Amino acid sequence: MSGGAARRILCCVSPVSTPPRAAGERSGPGAGAPAISARALGKRYGATVALDGLDLEIAQGEVYGFLGPNGSGKTTTIRLLLGLHRASSGSARLFGLDCFSAAALAHRDVAYVAGEPALWPAMTAAETFEFLARVRGGTDTRYRAQLVERFQLDPSRKVRALSKGNRQKVQLIAALASRAPLLLLDEPTAGLDPLMEVAFRDSVREARDNGQTVFLSSHILSEVEALCDRVGILRAGRLIDEGTLQQLRHLSAQTVEATFAGAAPELAAPDGVSVERVAADTLRFEVAGPVGPLLDTLAGRGVLSITSREPSLEEVFLHHYDTSGGDGGRPSP
Ligand SMILES: Nc1ncnc2c1ncn2[C@@H]1O[C@H](COP(=O)(O)OP(=O)(O)O)[C@@H](O)[C@H]1O
Ligand SMILES: [Mg+2]
Repeated sequence: MSGGAARRILCCVSPVSTPPRAAGERSGPGAGAPAISARALGKRYGATVALDGLDLEIAQGEVYGFLGPNGSGKTTTIRLLLGLHRASSGSARLFGLDCFSAAALAHRDVAYVAGEPALWPAMTAAETFEFLARVRGGTDTRYRAQLVERFQLDPSRKVRALSKGNRQKVQLIAALASRAPLLLLDEPTAGLDPLMEVAFRDSVREARDNGQTVFLSSHILSEVEALCDRVGILRAGRLIDEGTLQQLRHLSAQTVEATFAGAAPELAAPDGVSVERVAADTLRFEVAGPVGPLLDTLAGRGVLSITSREPSLEEVFLHHYDTSGGDGGRPSP
């Protein structure tokens, strides 16, 4: 395993006192400080500006969604928070402690799930759990057994024989079972099937109920909507919007397509719904608010089939932030 991978894993299990404390009970260094704060945080890789003047403040106990398309700087932010890379400018703190100069203390109470699982291939999942728990200094073994069941993981299998999704589960279970006060999750559901997405959501809600802080990076709007108290939207290394779900409600939209038994009728679309004819028998609707009024309009109009999907983050960006979604949301030249 590369040194980088080793360091990633050790961050995932940085030694911590056990049993874990709920965020509200924190004492000593970091009591009352934000779980995460970043001031004008920037990172360049050669000519690439991966992160540009990021300001963040996340309170203890919050579930924060860090939403951005691929290449927008989510992983870079998490690497800086973990002290894996040195910031080019600005500063980042966890529980009031500098992520780079006070790395050991700052990461005492952090569990991390990487987007790309890097584990020890010759160990079984069960051995991995034991090893990580020992390095960390403790874990909640009862909760871990519950999670193994919930995520339907066979802990006797060697990591190298596991699919990417199952390796992702190993990381997730180890991090969740640590009950660390701060969970840094970098696109943790990439590779998980939809059933496991439900298991993941249940687990994040349990973490929240337990008082833990969760920083969840994602490029999937619906995932963040389902889980997070507050959302920050990252585009091309900059935080371009931030707020509660209520404040960002305007971002949600659905695309509904209805196919009719014969020619599609002329319809007066309800408020907040735009309509487009995409085939002789098919209409496409963009719905900004609740979908009920549209369904009322369609009732009794000879609809054969109906499909609905959420727009990709790229489409959302195109509509709301006036940019192409490519290259981390960087505007097209
Ligand atoms: N180690 C690195 N070396 C050079 N460029 C990098 C490195 N890591 C990330 N980048 C670049 O920084 C930008 C942000 O990447 P990243 O933080 O991985 O985005 P995300 O996690 O949102 O997909 C991208 O343009 C990416 O190519
Ligand atoms: Mg990433």
